[in-house]
Amino acid sequence: MHITRRTLIAVSLSLTVAFTLPAAVFAASPAPAKGEHGMVVTAQHLATEVGVEVLKKGGNAVDAAIAVGYALAVVYPNAGNIGGGGFMTIRLKDGRSTFIDFRERAPLAATKTMYLDKEGKPVKGASLDGYLAVGVPGSVAGFEMAREKYGTLSRQDLMAPAIAYARDGFVLNQGDAASFAGSAARLAKDPAAAAIFLKPDGKTYGIGERLVQPDLAASLSAISEKGADAFYKGGIADAIVKASGAKGGILAKADFEQYTVRELKPVTCSYRGYEIISSPPPSSGGVIICEILNVLEDYPLSYLGAGSAETVHVMVEAMRYAYVDRNSALGDPDFVDNPVSKLLDKAYAKQIRDKIDPFRAGVSKDLMPKDFGESKETTHYSIIDNDGNAVAVTYTLNGSFGAGVVADGTGILLNNEMDDFTQKPGVPNLYGLVQGEANAIKPKKTPLSSMSPTIVTKDGKPFMVIGSPGGSRIITITLEAIVNVVDHGMNIQEAIDAPRIHHQWLPDTIYVEPFGLSPDTERLLAGMGYHLDLGDQTWGQAAGILVGGKSLAEIGKGGGARYNGAIDSRAASGEALGY
Ligand code: DON
Repeated sequence: MHITRRTLIAVSLSLTVAFTLPAAVFAASPAPAKGEHGMVVTAQHLATEVGVEVLKKGGNAVDAAIAVGYALAVVYPNAGNIGGGGFMTIRLKDGRSTFIDFRERAPLAATKTMYLDKEGKPVKGASLDGYLAVGVPGSVAGFEMAREKYGTLSRQDLMAPAIAYARDGFVLNQGDAASFAGSAARLAKDPAAAAIFLKPDGKTYGIGERLVQPDLAASLSAISEKGADAFYKGGIADAIVKASGAKGGILAKADFEQYTVRELKPVTCSYRGYEIISSPPPSSGGVIICEILNVLEDYPLSYLGAGSAETVHVMVEAMRYAYVDRNSALGDPDFVDNPVSKLLDKAYAKQIRDKIDPFRAGVSKDLMPKDFGESKETTHYSIIDNDGNAVAVTYTLNGSFGAGVVADGTGILLNNEMDDFTQKPGVPNLYGLVQGEANAIKPKKTPLSSMSPTIVTKDGKPFMVIGSPGGSRIITITLEAIVNVVDHGMNIQEAIDAPRIHHQWLPDTIYVEPFGLSPDTERLLAGMGYHLDLGDQTWGQAAGILVGGKSLAEIGKGGGARYNGAIDSRAASGEALGY
């Protein structure tokens, strides 16, 4: 039997709970937040309030997304950032949709083998800790570009709340304190980061304590006054380049001067009459969500049921095939030819279905591509305004607190996004992803991402806004939230809270959240040949909005609240707030 961990515990638990619960074991969720004019869902309650205030003042969803982005950089510093990058998916009230790519780019001096030693072996930590791990940040350029093209309010208006929280500080609640705890040892290695985030006793700030960030307030004020040039062409870039040079990094002023935002066409596909609008390369997210949905569309998931062995079987097999494509074929579109139309083709999905044995687990090593040649902390927020403009943003420093470094005087934590590249074909990255040549390091190239800010529409109207952090699991988290609403009839909060499963081709393992599957389902899957990892960790912090009711059932009965917001119960400091 291929079950690791708590088989015995599960068996004994099953004696007490199996009779009273359906196949998947999960608790009831609280009701989603309701709103008639707008909804903001983020992983930090103060940032949510900033977004709602912008909407109330007459700003649109893009304005709110920018204000939230800057606010999270202050009140959620392990993932919110101006020293990292991300993606914004926008669907405007007139039906147009677009995608803003403000992810990090590799420095000009980056090389394919920069994280390998003389013997060609990866140097431990080199792509994760310190300045060598830092990609050229994109958040400030991205927010400015989005504001100029799609926003309505001034930069000063949108940045003022973030500046105030940095200057005056904010008091940590239990969730905030928890998101800091555990990072003390790492932050202690960089004196500038330690001076901000650690107390004199070397501990992180606790519940009820106030975190004040004067240097970050000064950097934000300079950007507010002078625009993105203050970051890319002025003193901030100079300070980062200086610190990088002094501490083993390769960032140059030209990297900052040459940073450009890309506006791209989102990836779209249909699923049971819904339209999915999501992230194109350099994210793998939209393509792989669509590829998996295309495979699943021909299975009666609703009939098979949430969490049943049959549902898990077909979902895992769809994930297995799609992650092979993710890890071998996709990369930055300016550098590689991505086979997007093939991967989105419904006929290709049928070819995959034809290969799935209805009774047996597939075997990942049999799917190794011949020409393979060759990878925490992110945050997602979802916003919709009174006009129906919808915005989904996922942005990140990659690992928690990024590279763990701050250039003196800037207050800005820098990312370790370079780890998302293939360091060496076949060698797993932070998220266990085994990737290939398409994602090799090159100067100015963007590492392949899994971030999947997604908007779902129905009959030309916004239906769902969804996304999550979670590294390589972002794709399956987002996918499962959609399937839970569309196929399993869950309301938006239940869909987000429901226990998750994940498979990413390699390792050839189904990861299951605690109590995600019933013990008898686990045994059925093991009998089909699956290896299950029944760990004790949950993952992801999805943020979602459903339009027209909290669930399909409520919408079918004539509707509930116009906007229904849900922050993941796993996000201890988050909030969904409507008005
Ligand atoms: O872009 C990516 O796919 C990763 N850098 C995302 C990292 C992440 O989600 C970490 N959070 N848990």
